[in-house]
Amino acid sequence: MEKTFIMVKPDGMRRKLAGEVIKRLEAKGFQLLAARVLSMSRDMASEHYKEHQGQDFYAGLIKHITSGPVLAMVWQAPDAIEVARLLVGHRNPLKAAVGTIRGDYASISAENLVHAADSPEAAAREIELFFPDVKYDSKE
Ligand code: CDP
Ligand code: MG
Repeated sequence: MEKTFIMVKPDGMRRKLAGEVIKRLEAKGFQLLAARVLSMSRDMASEHYKEHQGQDFYAGLIKHITSGPVLAMVWQAPDAIEVARLLVGHRNPLKAAVGTIRGDYASISAENLVHAADSPEAAAREIELFFPDVKYDSKE
């Protein structure tokens, strides 16, 4: 079993697609371990996306992710990180396969509805950032 961090971004919340994201993860057999709705501060956003600092899309990314509430979640499944990335689909709507969340619902690259951690290190870091009060065995 593996844990991963998945977040419905402000565009997904505005479009009322949080339930759809949850439904797809549950249908795939994922178990929801923790969830919270919050509005990210600029500090939290720059920590979450620090790997992208200096990129030309960075300012727009921070503006978007802080533009409204997000739904932050911890999910568990076998190979959860890789499987969640498959369910989410490619960042570019032109490359996101039909049947993926982004492939079915996103048409603008920057507004792609959902974030999913891309490595065990990122998952651990993101879970700690959003759920500092929740301790899991796998983080030990
Ligand atoms: O979200 P994902 O891990 O699939 O993609 P990323 O390459 O790590 O980029 C993180 C986020 O930055 C994307 O989901 C987009 O919201 C944004 N981005 C963008 O707006 N334009 C780009 N050229 C690259 C990323
Ligand atoms: Mg990424």
